Amino acid sequence: MFNINRIAGLNIAIATKNRYLLQNIILPKNVYSTNILGIETSCDDTACAIINDNGDILSETLYSQNLIHLRNGGIIPDVAQDLHRTYIEPVVAETIKNSKLSINNIAVIAVTVKPGLPLSLAVGLKYAKHLARTYNKPIIPIHHMQAHALIARINNNISFPFLALLISGGHCLIAVVQDVNDFQLLGESMDSAPGEVLDKVARRMKLKNVSEYSKICGGQAIELAASKSTNPFLFKFPLPLADYKDCNFSFNGLKTSVLSKLYKKEKEHNIIADALIPETNDLCAAMLTAISKHLVHRTQRAMMFCQQNNLIPHYKKQLVVSGGVACNNFIYNSLKMLCDQTEYSIYRPPPKLCTDNGVMIAWNALEKWKKHLDIITNYNTLDIEANSPLGESLIENVIKAKIPIKVIKLTHNK
Ligand code: KG4
Ligand code: ZN
Repeated sequence: MFNINRIAGLNIAIATKNRYLLQNIILPKNVYSTNILGIETSCDDTACAIINDNGDILSETLYSQNLIHLRNGGIIPDVAQDLHRTYIEPVVAETIKNSKLSINNIAVIAVTVKPGLPLSLAVGLKYAKHLARTYNKPIIPIHHMQAHALIARINNNISFPFLALLISGGHCLIAVVQDVNDFQLLGESMDSAPGEVLDKVARRMKLKNVSEYSKICGGQAIELAASKSTNPFLFKFPLPLADYKDCNFSFNGLKTSVLSKLYKKEKEHNIIADALIPETNDLCAAMLTAISKHLVHRTQRAMMFCQQNNLIPHYKKQLVVSGGVACNNFIYNSLKMLCDQTEYSIYRPPPKLCTDNGVMIAWNALEKWKKHLDIITNYNTLDIEANSPLGESLIENVIKAKIPIKVIKLTHNK
């Protein structure tokens, strides 16, 4: 086990696997517990958290821009950046205050640097550099999607390797997590992310005109509406990419089909202005069913690929589902059905750790800190990256393997 007391105050040189080298870092003498401050601003949440080296959350703060973007009909990057600029300082100050620590008790600043909206990422990194420079701390840069995967380990005993399905507003990825910095990508979305499609459809359905849905994100609103469906089989959508024997995803075709059904029903019922079609709940249920089936289908093939290539030993069959869309219980229960049949254990972080948060950034940094990875003291050239692949791509190998799959039956609505 890494012993911070032993090395505190020493000059240490750490070679990292990636491009950053830590040279002769002098750890402050008063650092006896490695408290880590994490900053997340990759999209529309300004979030910060402090954890200690046990992974205990000492404090966390989140300012969500959701309501403003709901009003604007989507995220406008300049608006998101302005809000991050306004809130980053108070959010970090509040987090430090609530932790009952002083900044001197913080060992390292962690910050999301990729992937994400460039204007949003830039605010977090600039503030992290300002803190690091002012208080003489190293920085640990974090890949947002890696953080979504690893956060499941904060309160579950999940050992490497494990399979991770990451479903959010910006991404849809399936990967084997071999180690903290060692991801093998098996599949990714070829067009939109599921959260993005849920948000767009919710907007087009005008769900925010219903007071119950007016203050929640599109994905949540669709889940709530679907739970009230009386006829979940009224609409049926084809399985996306059914003929492609790989683990990639696609949601644009489904979005077009849902919107065309919506349009047809609006015409049929002569719907005008702000009204909703009477079949709203059933349409939401059918959409969730289609998304779930697609996710299950690709995950099932990823499990087979892992088995055929010995990527995950049979005694470590673990699936982590994370990212904002993983909050969805219908989707989670569908994946659970798959895991029950394939003898995988399924793990999902609690909702507030599935959606964007500062804890996952601090936790990912703690995982790196323990393995002496990516601790940067010379961060002047450290920059953001809007797009960043998740580890080594095995997608071509998956395509070549052409693994046939008989999709399992989902039995929610029976
Ligand atoms: O991970 P996240 O907070 O941000 C990104 O990294 O994108 O995910 C946000 C996405 C949004 O698109 C939101 O609609 C979706 O997660 N989401 C949900 C639910 N809660 C949040 N989607 C489906 N069902 C939910 N309960
Ligand atoms: Zn996210």
